[in-house]
Amino acid sequence: MAERNKATVEREEALLMSYQDSVDRVPLLWIHGYPLSNLLWEFQVTDLADIARQITPDLRGHGRTESAPPPYSMALLADDCVRLLDHLGFEGPVVIGGLSMGGYVALEICRRYPQHVAGLILAATRAGADSEAGKAGRDQAAELVKDQGVGAIVEAMLPKMLAPETYAEQPDLVEFVRDMMMETSVEGVVGALAAMRDRVDSTGDLPLIDVPTLVVHGAEDQLIPVSEAEILATSLPDAELVIVPGAGHLLNLEQPDAFNDAVRVFLERYYED
Ligand code: MLT
Repeated sequence: MAERNKATVEREEALLMSYQDSVDRVPLLWIHGYPLSNLLWEFQVTDLADIARQITPDLRGHGRTESAPPPYSMALLADDCVRLLDHLGFEGPVVIGGLSMGGYVALEICRRYPQHVAGLILAATRAGADSEAGKAGRDQAAELVKDQGVGAIVEAMLPKMLAPETYAEQPDLVEFVRDMMMETSVEGVVGALAAMRDRVDSTGDLPLIDVPTLVVHGAEDQLIPVSEAEILATSLPDAELVIVPGAGHLLNLEQPDAFNDAVRVFLERYYED
């Protein structure tokens, strides 16, 4: 079983960072999206424990990791993750999996620390940067959370996080996601919004990321269209695309069996002896 842990990771300042770790298999770092936590990976931590050693940090300001003051950047979030890998003693590369904002962080790790990346799992994410309208929306959301608290962001985002049938058929999951989002601090929301607003366009980097990659996306994602996954899969030199039916943005929670099957096949093909 995975155990909850905390480690102090150091960049310019020390950060007491919460994370989970599990058994010694293919090393796999899962990076959650915004405004979520490592609870996002609960069905992967349990169901893939026989094949992957899964490390699931809470990013700064999210879940149980300390709430460091904003602004954050993708470089800072990538550094936090790599410092955690260093702390855990990883000398070789690991598979990096990221959902949505976690995918932005994963692509930043590819840029800054290619020696740490054995493969990628890019879930419900995109390579492009924010449009001008998107950047303005980040600033509006930051004002909203500063004025009205995290609940206002949760109420605005929650109706778009899942597929329509998930709201109807899995009410407990909807509440699980709401609770997870509510754990994010105001500083975490504001910091992540700045990091996403200012992230660079990774599209031009994709042809250079020559590691096996699984691109996986919910067919009914309301936040990031499937066309973004298609761009990733066609631009990355060694990628395969899996579209999960009946799933929205949080496909790994909504359809864990289909998601886990895709990950298992990918890991067995490339990383099992
Ligand atoms: C996420 O799920 O991480 C965010 O919705 C991504 C974004 O807003 O670009």
